Amino acid sequence: MNAGACYRAKYMKGHDIAMGHYSRSLKSAHWVSAGLVLGMAVSGMMYFLEIGGKQSIVAHQIMGQGLILVLAWRLLAKFRSGKPRHAHALWERVLAGGVQIALYGVLIAFLVSGYVAASALRDTSLVLPVDFAFARGPIGEQFLNAHYNMKWVLLGLLVLHIAGALKHHFIDRDTTLRNIWFTKQGD
Ligand code: HEM
Ligand code: HEM
Repeated sequence: MNAGACYRAKYMKGHDIAMGHYSRSLKSAHWVSAGLVLGMAVSGMMYFLEIGGKQSIVAHQIMGQGLILVLAWRLLAKFRSGKPRHAHALWERVLAGGVQIALYGVLIAFLVSGYVAASALRDTSLVLPVDFAFARGPIGEQFLNAHYNMKWVLLGLLVLHIAGALKHHFIDRDTTLRNIWFTKQGD
């Protein structure tokens, strides 16, 4: 569906009036990538805690390569179709927008640093690893450190993001959360 067809004014339950909506494929991409990020966090921590042996880091790399594809496709699709513009207070729009941009930024940084870290493994599961000497060198080491430290940033952003979504759903009782779920338009 193109942006023009997507965009329309809509009055919804509660006091939120949103312009436009997420296409079905963007909704799917949101929840598939959220599931993959959860899988990445679990498999990464399992590897760190030495649970599940080699399988945990193999699963981490396979899911990671899937996440790279989903995120690349999602970013392309995002620029081609619309997203809701809410009538929320300015501070809410700025905070939500800032957190969403930061989430994309941190995810990309995770994927790049993880890719370099995985290229440094002796038996990597990557389809196209980067140069082994580079991945094992001082720059590769910095990517690895970044990969280790960023989980706290991602956690903080997700707490804000999910708290915001729940506030809109349970306190403001508007359609922000339903807009990204698979309810029919107009529900
Ligand atoms: C949202 C995406 C990702 C998340 C949340 C994530 C999370 C983690 C976590 C929690 C660890 C354990 C180390 C620690 O405690 O910090 C880890 C390690 C690792 N991750 Fe990721 N990761 C992501 C993406 C990727 C990708 C795309 C790859 C490669 C395809 C990758 C490859 C690795 C490797 C190789 C390690 C082990 C590094 C080592 O100790 O040698 N990660 N990741
Ligand atoms: C790893 C988990 C998640 C990540 C990485 C993530 C990331 C994102 C990003 C980047 C956007 C912006 C979409 C765009 O316009 O391009 C978004 C939108 C949204 N997400 Fe998430 N999300 C996650 C989990 C969740 C969860 C668990 C909820 C609900 C409790 C949620 C609720 C929403 C809502 C309601 C929007 C639409 C916000 C709006 O219309 O302004 N997300 N998410």
